Amino acid sequence: MAHNELILTNVTKRFGGLTAVDALTMTVEPGQIYGVIGPNGAGKTTVFNCITGIYKSEEGSVSWRGEEIRGLTPYQIVDRGIVRTFQTIRLFSQMSVAENIMSGRHIKSTQKWWHGIIPTPGSRRDEKENWLKVGELLEFFNLEEFAAIPTASLSYGHQRRVEMARAMAVDPTLLILDEPAAGLNDKETSELLEVIFKIREQGVTVLLIEHDMDLVMKVTDYLTVLNFGKKIAEGTPDEIQKNPLVIEAYLGSEDDDDE
Ligand SMILES: Nc1ncnc2c1ncn2[C@@H]1O[C@H](COP(=O)(O)OP(=O)(O)O)[C@@H](O)[C@H]1O
Ligand SMILES: [Mg+2]
Repeated sequence: MAHNELILTNVTKRFGGLTAVDALTMTVEPGQIYGVIGPNGAGKTTVFNCITGIYKSEEGSVSWRGEEIRGLTPYQIVDRGIVRTFQTIRLFSQMSVAENIMSGRHIKSTQKWWHGIIPTPGSRRDEKENWLKVGELLEFFNLEEFAAIPTASLSYGHQRRVEMARAMAVDPTLLILDEPAAGLNDKETSELLEVIFKIREQGVTVLLIEHDMDLVMKVTDYLTVLNFGKKIAEGTPDEIQKNPLVIEAYLGSEDDDDE
């Protein structure tokens, strides 16, 4: 199939006098693990917000599988198979792990709220399918032993995994991860690497922002590097690591990072 890519063309997003994203053009191919990196404040999260409908860019185009999605609402964009996690974990902290994952199922569900009160054969079937899917996801993300536990009492690493499981419950075509390794220890980070590869094996395209350079270089196929909202380089991890502009803007300034 043609036109299955995510294509950003000259996307510009301003906040007052600040140009947070400046004429960004990039293409994410189906099946890729694509990274967006750059120093703090470079505009990475803003790019993700423009793709997922949280912001509408002032200029440019966001094309997904041949359709212009700039200007659609976040819900409409989820409906088209683009699902994200957030830089700061957002879970229902008092709900169990299984219920949190189930909430992802309900986002995509066609059920009406009153089916909970007056179940129809269709809603019963959906609900059964949903719980089967939640079970699969608990297994996929190695969360089975925590299924009934409120997410608030889990470690940070496990909470991150629940968030990814909930996103995967929506059956995304494109999964967008904003700094998935933030706050993880080395062991959790290497587990995350495996999980990202497993997600791609399911046929899901992955777009991620990440601070952990070691992880980025191991996990991504292709990278865009932002600095002050502008793309300063793109290429494979090998090419990026050798690029003098990138070394100057980012790799060389790692000591200044607050994380
Ligand atoms: N809602 C907003 N209002 C005003 N300025 C914002 C807003 N969101 C982000 N910014 C600014 O845009 C720039 C890019 O931010 P962000 O996309 O969060 O960077 P990154 O994710 O690369 O660290 C920063 O200077 C930030 O302060
Ligand atoms: Mg950010």
